[in-house]
Amino acid sequence: MSGSDTPKGPSTKVVGAGRRKEWTQGIVNTPVWRASTILYDTVADLRASGAADTHHRLFYGRRGTPTQWSLADALTELEPGAEGTFLYPSGVAAIAAALLSVLSPGDELLLVDSAYDPTRGIANGLLKRMGITTRFYDPLIGAGIAELIGDKTKAILLESPGSLTFEVQDIPAITAAARARGVVTLLDNTWATPLFFPAIEHGIDLSILACTKYVVGHSDVMLGSVTAAPGHFRKLRETSFQLGQVTSPDDAWLGARGLRTMAVRLKQHEASALKIAHWLAEQPGVARVLHPALPSCPGHDVFVRDFKGSSGLFSFVLDGGDEAARAALIDGLAHFGIGYSWGGFESLALPVDPARHRSATTRDDAGPMIRLQIGLEDADDLIADLDAGLARFRETSGK
Ligand SMILES: Cc1ncc(COP(=O)(O)O)c(C=O)c1O
Repeated sequence: MSGSDTPKGPSTKVVGAGRRKEWTQGIVNTPVWRASTILYDTVADLRASGAADTHHRLFYGRRGTPTQWSLADALTELEPGAEGTFLYPSGVAAIAAALLSVLSPGDELLLVDSAYDPTRGIANGLLKRMGITTRFYDPLIGAGIAELIGDKTKAILLESPGSLTFEVQDIPAITAAARARGVVTLLDNTWATPLFFPAIEHGIDLSILACTKYVVGHSDVMLGSVTAAPGHFRKLRETSFQLGQVTSPDDAWLGARGLRTMAVRLKQHEASALKIAHWLAEQPGVARVLHPALPSCPGHDVFVRDFKGSSGLFSFVLDGGDEAARAALIDGLAHFGIGYSWGGFESLALPVDPARHRSATTRDDAGPMIRLQIGLEDADDLIADLDAGLARFRETSGK
């Protein structure tokens, strides 16, 4: 086996992927190629370029330059079995374009009840206006999804683990049922990334990342991607071109820069989050920890079977208490910012209320919930911070 044929580990892949010589021009990182107009030598050249399949050929700025192609190519390489990747200016833009590439008026979408709330918004807003109906399903449905698939069902959207509540879906069972009926599957794979869950190998057709999180990794860029299994890329790209979707080369460059350290960052997010989740599970005032690697999380067995690792985002449920007690815990934290998003180097704490975003399932939580994004600080400092926060919670709630 020659060196280039040797199977590569994930860290080797994130370092080398997408760095084609014709794009880097010999520089380590593919530079920022900014463009709107591309100049041709002759009218014949212009016509030839317009007529051809312009994938990976300079044509017009909206179709990208080597900067975007390099990151897209890298994401394709990270996802075994993938045909191609399209980039978007946010994770939500990626979800919307992926759905629009497979759904038409009259179709039905099956959408997991634990989906990111703006994904529900796309279904209940844009898709509904287009005459596309949505049925929400229990994240733990597994092979039972077959009973929901009807003649109009054209797509199933999964998100595993689920937003806020972290239920792990039985993806192989769902994709097998979908394939048997010719239904396309889409997965929001932002939490695991292809490094911890190779989606296409598990039967997914369109794997979506909010690259804003772990790919970028520094909380300073909005970016999304969809990586397609064979047979799905052309339609995805055509739809995205028709929507005029283009990601700025500067943002793609920052995404590629983040990607180079993603494997090592994920390992640290994983180690610290696990340490903190196990610690929290033992604390008075904590009713339940919702981290896929802990048996207290719904779908934990499936997680152990299918995933190669866990990342830095999880939730915990407080044992009773009210909004004021939860706020007392969060407001005084020294190392956790209060804010949306996750996947950056810094820790965040967010009050979350999943019952507001569910329609096919109900919640019976013992108290208010907090979602933690565990950053790259020392885990012991974060534990000390949370320890003091839980003391404030117990004092305020009288627990
Ligand atoms: C699971 C998940 N998917 C998608 C998104 C959307 O990504 P973006 O904020 O880049 O639009 C988010 C954002 O928080 C998310 O948590």
